[in-house]
Amino acid sequence: MSNYETFEYDVLVIGAGGAGLRAVIGAIEKGCKVGVVTKSLLGKAHTVMAEGGAAAALANYDTEDGWKVHFRDTMRGGKFLNNWRTVEIFAKEAPERILELERYGAVFDRTPEGLISQRAFGGHKYRRLAHVGDRTGLELIRTLQDKAVSLGFDCHMETTLTRLLTQGGRVVGAFGYRRVDGQLVVFKAKAIVLATGGFGRMYKFTSNSWESTGDGVVMAYDAGAELQDMEMVQFHPTGMIWPPGMRGILVTEGVRGDGGVLKNGKGERFMFNHVPEFFRAETADNPDEAARWVDDKRNNRRPPELLPRDVVARAIYKEVQEGRGSEHGGAYLDISHKGADYIRKKLPSMYDQFLHLGDVDITKEPMEVYPTIHYAMGGVAAEPDTCATSLPGLYAAGEVAAGLHGANRLGGNSLTDILVFGRRAGEAAGDYANANSHGSVVNEQIEEELDVLMRPLSGGDGVSPYEIQTELQETMQKCAMIARTEESLNEALQTVRELQSKLDDIRVPGDTRFNPGWNAARDARFMLTSSEVLIRSALERKESRGGHWRLDFPNEDPYWAKHNIIAKFENGSVKLEPRPVPTIPPELEEILKD
Ligand code: FUM
Repeated sequence: MSNYETFEYDVLVIGAGGAGLRAVIGAIEKGCKVGVVTKSLLGKAHTVMAEGGAAAALANYDTEDGWKVHFRDTMRGGKFLNNWRTVEIFAKEAPERILELERYGAVFDRTPEGLISQRAFGGHKYRRLAHVGDRTGLELIRTLQDKAVSLGFDCHMETTLTRLLTQGGRVVGAFGYRRVDGQLVVFKAKAIVLATGGFGRMYKFTSNSWESTGDGVVMAYDAGAELQDMEMVQFHPTGMIWPPGMRGILVTEGVRGDGGVLKNGKGERFMFNHVPEFFRAETADNPDEAARWVDDKRNNRRPPELLPRDVVARAIYKEVQEGRGSEHGGAYLDISHKGADYIRKKLPSMYDQFLHLGDVDITKEPMEVYPTIHYAMGGVAAEPDTCATSLPGLYAAGEVAAGLHGANRLGGNSLTDILVFGRRAGEAAGDYANANSHGSVVNEQIEEELDVLMRPLSGGDGVSPYEIQTELQETMQKCAMIARTEESLNEALQTVRELQSKLDDIRVPGDTRFNPGWNAARDARFMLTSSEVLIRSALERKESRGGHWRLDFPNEDPYWAKHNIIAKFENGSVKLEPRPVPTIPPELEEILKD
């Protein structure tokens, strides 16, 4: 048995983004001793990449707004694949969580009357996004961190967990290593909250930071928890496309929310040509009408740039495919007409980002953008009220969890998601911990994981983990991105299987002390497993819906409208099962008909 350090908590939270930190507060308020493990540093989380705001029906500008409209917009945006109960809880609790964040110390932009200012975003009927310029995620993290630190918890930074430990059908801990000195660590916990975010690093161009290699979703899957709708990933319509080294970095939807327009290489405002029938009645069909909406947001039809993300991303893709792309193969996004003062005040990060990374002054010239993988709607299946997964003792909140966003997330719903369900997961985990004692850690599970972890250091020549990651990313980008076919998905699957067969041959120099190559070796396993489940689920869903666009099945299918795809690890392979979506009660069905 190797030497490892052991820590013991009532509740262990894995991930220190917004969902993790809100869970910490919830669990501490239940009287629990809480430990947090983060692969990165406290305060540096992917949450900061939700720039434009947090959606909540505060009705500060548009007094007609309320939870029912937010519920309806979220279900429609998600193409009705969402769990209705999760959305109901979310829409009802969102305003209180935003006000609570303000009580914790968040400093939001204000309306002239001094209320929290709210910005328009795609798919939201009313101006709904509470924001702090274009740095909302950063302010959210800062505030939650201050609050959690004031309550007291242990934080294990730069620590990677690679395996959940189970005993008698429940989760009892987790195992991994400290990145800086390679020290092996075991965490014993009565309950665990998984808040590890998404898994977009399997694609070549992504807004996701280096941590998003799918560790959380795969650890849950390996331990026996159910995953849901893993084919549903979101391509944010506007990532940077130029210069090449910056490709994929997010360009906030706040640009379009504040009046930015999309144009193709011929200078045409092409989104008017891409409005689906479903949204036609509420979308402006000419620039004058769209401009009026920007001035008086309540009374006119919305500009087509503010359609849900799946619609806008597909439109940009089609324009480029049909030969109307921008200079570097994307689209132009222009907000220069709003004037330099406005842009520097409301979009300071975008201004800096383009000036310093791309040598583009967005107060004078358009940005160049292309869809970038941004978010995972699919993930670990979680029960709506408590965020419990199918594995007792394990809770999931935020991007790692599935259910809220269905087939397509509306921008701004993720920041509120992590507040609403981070709290619920932390409290439910606290309740579970208070009602249960510690389980026993099973040494064979640690030994098994150690074997996997140490193999790349066993010497001799072998495959580089970077080669595996690069080939995976190229393949996913080419074959499983925004437009998919059975042929392209099968090609991706074949590559994934071939790369998986090389995993045991990975070799890296050095030892376990701060060794990026060794870290990359374990990440490659997570990335390949999450890719395999994504591809297999995408092959199974023979229709187009939200983020999942099948060129060979271009329409929505009534059968798939009513089924989530559940993935489980059984007998060494992926088992998929279409599962009927929960039946929506008549009073909520009425809201959708409205
Ligand atoms: O575009 C954005 O600012 C991203 C927001 C989000 O993903 O919710």
